[in-house]
Amino acid sequence: MKKLMILLAGAFLSAGTSLLAQDATVRVHEAGTGVTIPAEIYGQFSEHLGRCIYGGLWVGKDSSVPNIEGYRKDVFDALKALKVPVMRWPGGCFADDYHWMDGIGPQEKRGYLTNTNWGGTLEDNSFGTHEFLNLCELLGIQPYISGNVGSGSVQEMSQWVEYMTSDAKTPMADLRRANGREEPWKVKYFGIGNEAWGCGGNMTPEYYSDLFRRYGTYLHDYAGNRLFKIASGASDYDYNWTRVLMRNLVGKGMAGISLHYYTVTGWNGPKGAATKFSDKDYYWLLSKTIEIEDVLRKHIEIMDELDRSGRVALLLDEWGTWYDVEPGTNPGHLYQQNTMRDAIVAALNFDIFHKYTRRLKMANIAQVVNVLQSMILTNETEMVLTPTYHVFEMYNVHQDAEFIESECLTGHVKTERPCAVPEVDATVSRKDGEMHLSLVNTDLKKAMKVSVTFDGDGVSKILSARVLTSGDVHDYNDFGKPDVVKPVAFKDYKLTRGGIELTLPPCSVVVLAAK
Ligand code: AHR
Repeated sequence: MKKLMILLAGAFLSAGTSLLAQDATVRVHEAGTGVTIPAEIYGQFSEHLGRCIYGGLWVGKDSSVPNIEGYRKDVFDALKALKVPVMRWPGGCFADDYHWMDGIGPQEKRGYLTNTNWGGTLEDNSFGTHEFLNLCELLGIQPYISGNVGSGSVQEMSQWVEYMTSDAKTPMADLRRANGREEPWKVKYFGIGNEAWGCGGNMTPEYYSDLFRRYGTYLHDYAGNRLFKIASGASDYDYNWTRVLMRNLVGKGMAGISLHYYTVTGWNGPKGAATKFSDKDYYWLLSKTIEIEDVLRKHIEIMDELDRSGRVALLLDEWGTWYDVEPGTNPGHLYQQNTMRDAIVAALNFDIFHKYTRRLKMANIAQVVNVLQSMILTNETEMVLTPTYHVFEMYNVHQDAEFIESECLTGHVKTERPCAVPEVDATVSRKDGEMHLSLVNTDLKKAMKVSVTFDGDGVSKILSARVLTSGDVHDYNDFGKPDVVKPVAFKDYKLTRGGIELTLPPCSVVVLAAK
């Protein structure tokens, strides 16, 4: 691994009477862009997979685990604090095996199935449409429903929308009322299938395009509810999938197209452990994660070419790290731990997402509880918040804020992958008269001296500052040790004639609010 030496223009600045060498400079262009960072970039994904739903979000009303109407109380409260804007459900691959009518009505009469995608677990459907939509309503989350194209009928999907959103005297709305819910729910985001190129039906993009049009035709807008119909988009580098869908579906009811990109070493063979990795593995993974910028750019280029007026949104509705499962756990349940490395991954991804919101309108990390890069892990009685949770919580200041252009002049670390990893990275946004700066130091050993400069009035007061770091990048929160990695007050900064100088500890994420 070679350090790339980059000439830091402006990396020596006068601070008071002394000349202070900086490791990186963040130049903030204060004028503003008028571009709002959609809150939905901070979305979540909940799937009937392992213990995401059962034991994660839901324990049932009769459980001895403290719950609110069946929702696990500790998890419920943690999600409330997180300000989750949108949550996708019920899959993932599970969505194309899911028959929603099995999950409504009295619990004892609900249908059951084997969750063939995920470990062959018995799915008793005790968490269904009412349980999901009521959870969203209680937490102020926008629901994003993923419909079944792979093994479901047009009629089934059409009736699901009617069941959830019609307020008229219709058979499905009456059925909903009979099941105890008088008012329709508001459901905006509706995915027509998931991974149609794979677990969602192994289709070609041409064939799927026709199915999108057919299924989409029968998804109606009821009672003032306007559906935002999302086509099942590409995986990673499959630019042809995006091209064919854009060619066939622009102007045909497609409001959005999805994309999946996982930070994974590869699909065949071991993916590496979540908590055991070398420095080389760490930089390799960061390099893989930031490659998403190139992937986003290329999909967006195709969208720009085939939809010049920008009508179609891009939704990254699955992303995050994917490792080998924790030893001793069901390989089909994809349960993994979450270290400071995952926190850095999350922060770097957000820095990229924020730059592409002209097209990128949503991102949903996989999955919210107990699966891949989760926010929360639970066992029978305890809950831990992961380092990734803390990044989502610290960064929620960027939700619905104005994106402020900035440049980060920093060194880079080269790996075997094409993307060199920035030592320092940053996002700046403004909301309600406050400037928010989030900064990442990816270096495992070196504290980074960073100078933040403004090309306008700058800032004169730091309102709050927090840092997420830990002595060791392998550190994680676990049952019985839930606070190993958590944000604390950050003090290593000073104001300098409208600018800020700060020292970021090795492998850290810092968020400042300033005026
Ligand atoms: O997140 C796990 C799985 O990854 C999802 O179910 C599927 O859509 C993707 O392949």
